[in-house]
Amino acid sequence: MAPRLPFSLKFTLWAALTWFGSRLSGLRLESPFSFATWLCATFISYCILSFSWRICGRPCFSPLRDLPGPKSESFLFQNSSGIFDEPLGNRITGWVNTIPNDGLLHFFGLLGSEYLIPTSVESISDVVTNRAYQFQKASGLRRYGVRFFGDGIVIQEGEKHKKSRKSFVQVFNQRQVDKLKPVLSTKASEIVQHVREKCLTNANGVSKAASINVAEFTKLISLDVMGIIALGHDFHGILGQNLQIFEVFQMLFSSNEEKKSHFMWHNCAPPWFMNMFPSKIDSQMEVAYGKLRKRLEQLIPEKLAALKSTTTTDQDILTQLACSGDFSDDEIIPQIVTTLSAGFESTASTLSWTLYCLAANPEIQHSLREEISAAKSSKATLSEDDYEKLPLLNAVCYETSRLYPTFAMTLRKAICDTYINGRLVQAGTYIAIVPRAINRAKHLWGPDAEEFIPERWIDRSDPLAPKINQLGGASSAICMLSFLYGPRSCVGRGLALAEIRRVTARLVETFDIQQTSSTIPQPVGWLSSGPPPELNLTFVPTTK
Ligand code: HEM
Repeated sequence: MAPRLPFSLKFTLWAALTWFGSRLSGLRLESPFSFATWLCATFISYCILSFSWRICGRPCFSPLRDLPGPKSESFLFQNSSGIFDEPLGNRITGWVNTIPNDGLLHFFGLLGSEYLIPTSVESISDVVTNRAYQFQKASGLRRYGVRFFGDGIVIQEGEKHKKSRKSFVQVFNQRQVDKLKPVLSTKASEIVQHVREKCLTNANGVSKAASINVAEFTKLISLDVMGIIALGHDFHGILGQNLQIFEVFQMLFSSNEEKKSHFMWHNCAPPWFMNMFPSKIDSQMEVAYGKLRKRLEQLIPEKLAALKSTTTTDQDILTQLACSGDFSDDEIIPQIVTTLSAGFESTASTLSWTLYCLAANPEIQHSLREEISAAKSSKATLSEDDYEKLPLLNAVCYETSRLYPTFAMTLRKAICDTYINGRLVQAGTYIAIVPRAINRAKHLWGPDAEEFIPERWIDRSDPLAPKINQLGGASSAICMLSFLYGPRSCVGRGLALAEIRRVTARLVETFDIQQTSSTIPQPVGWLSSGPPPELNLTFVPTTK
């Protein structure tokens, strides 16, 4: 494989060539003006050559060009629409389901950038497990993350990431998650109470239905839950308190149209350019980060003092990280902020989609209500164990996560020459890991892959004792990429699902959830994709 030369060496070689060229043709570069003209001409000709190579040369000479992929859509932009698509990953889902392939699809993007899409269990395993550390998040994404959230686990790479991951895996272990479950159940009851109050208020006590904006409502729930699990602090956002901190979370962690272009600019333009021309969102995000940082700086000494004076039983992430002794105070803040960035909107979005899917499938919602009611029997509420075991409840949560992954696409770049599915892949090649496409791939999930069928997650081999089928009928756990897989998979998966199960079960047993509009909502957002901000659902109290 031809070695890849750094820009500085390539430019120096080109400059040397043009220098000799100018000498041979009798040009003298003696005055500062003629030297400056030559330098400019050399730079411009280098850019034109490099640009032409990227656009015309690479597609003709790439060693991966024999791999199947979509037809080029435009000379200049090639298939970059696959990357900038909305709903995110939608076009790639179409490619995966229609272009025959042996585990890899290939296409070119903006300025000749080259992309591979792993589509089989083997090729995905190579990227996310077998050779996970040979692929890194794209540098633009990391720059953006470090600037606005700090250098935490979500952004770190290599040895730094391995070290953080070791501590995080301990913090999120099953025992810790189990300890937090009762807190999540209490929060779920509060949410039910809140919706109940809305029902009476809205309908003036006559008709007891309330149309609620779920996108906002689930973010308020997520704020409270993330506050409890990350900081040991309940913001009571659902009760309308601490709305300033909600705005900080929205500013930093929610995605919208404005943030999409903000993110794209930071990805494409060089950092010096972005620093020279700061945008309004830059300063809004910096102010929001400053406020969150201040709050954390107040909380950390309180936590450390509590740790020294008592044997605290707090299970929040902040306490656990502080206890671990692996991080200084300065390192803890970015770790917490990036964790909030990973967990806040993702959990809210998945919960919103779960409620939407139940509203759109009233018969499944009815069966779920029956399942919950049978499990409760004479008990006032479900036990913590029930939530984890009820087959339909779990199936509904898994099926929603499968169809609506918040991180619908995540990009990686090969940092060295490596192999995927037996193919040599050059350093610098982008890998598009597309949970939306893999989760909806017909060759992995069957012809009904794009339909909402919770039954696929239920094993009814013993009709009297149905169980959860952890693979959902696919051949491997890697076919469900909503939480990714391997050493960069989501550490908060257990907690997020525990929360979604509890809130869903409590809402379904108390309300009939109906669609307010018959429009089919589509995911929006680029860095993460969630339900449209205007998604409303109607909650009608059940008679029981
Ligand atoms: C339904 C909700 C959630 C979904 C769908 C989700 C999904 C994901 C995905 C796909 C990744 C990998 C991202 C990438 O590498 O590009 C990830 C990473 C991560 N998630 Fe989650 N997440 C959820 C909730 C949470 C929660 C509640 C927390 C914390 C309380 C959390 C903490 C993290 C952390 C710390 C990472 C980085 C792991 C690493 O890089 O080693 N997530 N999540």
